[in-house]
Amino acid sequence: MADQDSRAGQRYSTKTILDYVNGVHVPHDADLARAFATPEGIPAIQVGPSDGKLIQLLLRLAGAKKVVEIGTLVGYSAIHMARALLAGGKIWSIEYEARHADVARANIAAAGLDGTIEVLVGAGTEVLPTIAHHGPFDAVFIDADKVNYHVYGRWAVDHLRPGGLVLGDNAYLFGELMEDSDRGRAMRAFHELVAAACDSVCAPTPDGLVVGIKR
Ligand SMILES: C[S@@+](CC[C@H](N)C(=O)[O-])C[C@H]1O[C@@H](n2cnc3c(N)ncnc32)[C@H](O)[C@@H]1O
Repeated sequence: MADQDSRAGQRYSTKTILDYVNGVHVPHDADLARAFATPEGIPAIQVGPSDGKLIQLLLRLAGAKKVVEIGTLVGYSAIHMARALLAGGKIWSIEYEARHADVARANIAAAGLDGTIEVLVGAGTEVLPTIAHHGPFDAVFIDADKVNYHVYGRWAVDHLRPGGLVLGDNAYLFGELMEDSDRGRAMRAFHELVAAACDSVCAPTPDGLVVGIKR
C-alpha cells in the first residue's frame, strides 16, 4: 500500500525511500546515533546521513589528514569525517555556541575521538586565524553562519593544499540563494570564488553541497 504522502505516480514517499537507502548505506552505530539526537534546546540541523557519509567518502578519496570544520553543532558531521582520516589525522572543529560545543565534546569523547577532533569555541572568523599555522589543510567543511560563507571560502582556498577539498553545505541557501540579501550575496560570492580557485560542482543534495578541489 502506498504511503499517504506519496506524490502522484510515486508509490512510496520520498521519506520511505530515504529511510531505506540511509539504513542500507549509512546505518547508525551508537556513536553516530548519539550525535544525531540533539538534546532539548539544540536544533536538529545536522547534515543528513547521506550527506555526512558522502563527505566522509570524499575525505577518504582525498587522503585527508588535516581537516577544518566550521559549525560543529553536536559533532555528527565531525564523527563522519573522523572516520575518513589517515592515521594520525586531526579535525579542528569550530563552534560558536558553548552549549553546542559541550555536547559535541561529550559525544566525541564517547566515540573515542577526543584525540582526533578538537572543538574550538568562538566565531569562525576569529578562530580560523588562530589555527592557520597548522595548515596547509586537506579539507575545509563549511556549515555555519551563511552570511560569512564567502569569508570562510576565501580562507579555505588560501589554506588548502593543491588537491585539497572545500565543502560547503546549504549552498542553495534554503531556496534563498538568488535573494538580494546579505546571505544571498555571501553565498553567491562563495560559489563564485570556489569555482574560480577549484574544479568544482554544487552537488544536488537536499540543500546543495559545494565540492571544490583546489587547483
Ligand atoms: C548546521 S549546524 C552544524 C551542523 C554540523 N556540521 C553537523 O552536520 O553535525 C551550524 C552550527 O554553526 C554554529 N555557528 C553559527 N554561527 C557560527 C559562527 N559564526 N562561527 C562558528 N559556528 C557558528 C551554530 O551554533 C551551529 O551549531
